[in-house]
Amino acid sequence: MLFYLGINGSGVADNAAGYGPQSNAMTPVQHFYDRDTSTFTYVVSDADTGLALIIDPVLDFDYASGRLGTRSAEEVVEHIRDRHLSLRYILETHIHADHLSSAPYIREQLGGEIAIGSQITTVQETFATIFAEGDGFRRDGSQFDLMLSDGDTLRLGGLEVRALHVPGHTPACMAYLIGDALFVGDTLFMPDSGTARCDFPGGDARSLFESCQRLLALPDDTRVFVCHDYQSGGRNLAFESTVAEQRSHNIHVGPGISADKFVAMREARDKGLDMPTLILPSLQVNMRAGNLPPSDASGRLFLKVPINAFGGAALDRFASEE
Ligand SMILES: [Fe+2]
Repeated sequence: MLFYLGINGSGVADNAAGYGPQSNAMTPVQHFYDRDTSTFTYVVSDADTGLALIIDPVLDFDYASGRLGTRSAEEVVEHIRDRHLSLRYILETHIHADHLSSAPYIREQLGGEIAIGSQITTVQETFATIFAEGDGFRRDGSQFDLMLSDGDTLRLGGLEVRALHVPGHTPACMAYLIGDALFVGDTLFMPDSGTARCDFPGGDARSLFESCQRLLALPDDTRVFVCHDYQSGGRNLAFESTVAEQRSHNIHVGPGISADKFVAMREARDKGLDMPTLILPSLQVNMRAGNLPPSDASGRLFLKVPINAFGGAALDRFASEE
């Protein structure tokens, strides 16, 4: 569909929220796609200084075998090395539930600081309970190098990165506005796919609606980059649209859809969704900024499968006494 192709960001006028493209130039964006989890990773670089940042890098994990892999991460590392870019930041839009983050691996390879929204502490509290984490698990966000609040800015050479708090899918979700490029994480999907689910612990449909409205108030030609694409209706893979396209065509938050109507739709729809395949491993790793849980006394690594954390038959009486 043609309207998914990016439009040159030419707007310079600030919108009502006070955020707008900083110049006529298009922010250089390179995308990477992980087919296994339908996830997009992005690299943004500043042409003048060669400084770069990565958004939402993926660590490969084969659940059936417990095998970790760095193929996806290496693709991004090679891209940065081949172009002699200098990595400054690794930005997470949120604690993902569908893929593991490779942020620590990338930092080991290329340097840079791992950043996430400051509300991560709320998310860590919630998931610490679900996974019965002990006192050793830090719930203060200190596994991350930077915790960003709404309106905070980072410098990437001549580019400004503005952090926008967009709760709803999770309480800590952030979008990042860099010049004319907006990285929305799991708030908006492509217009024909609507919005992200709000039924994970701490999710809230009304907050997501408000967050989407805030993003849709940005200038028309702001380019919108999504975190996932599930190829609605079997169409080709797509990852980029504009605020104007989202505002006029998004099937969940487009014209004439009120907050109440959205909340009713979102909550009904979420009831029918299965949990993402990798939610349990993803949360345990991503709440640690992509680090693995500590090894056990034998030096081996394990992830937990909490039984019935998301509902199920009450069979606790069959717990062994060993
Ligand atoms: Fe997500």
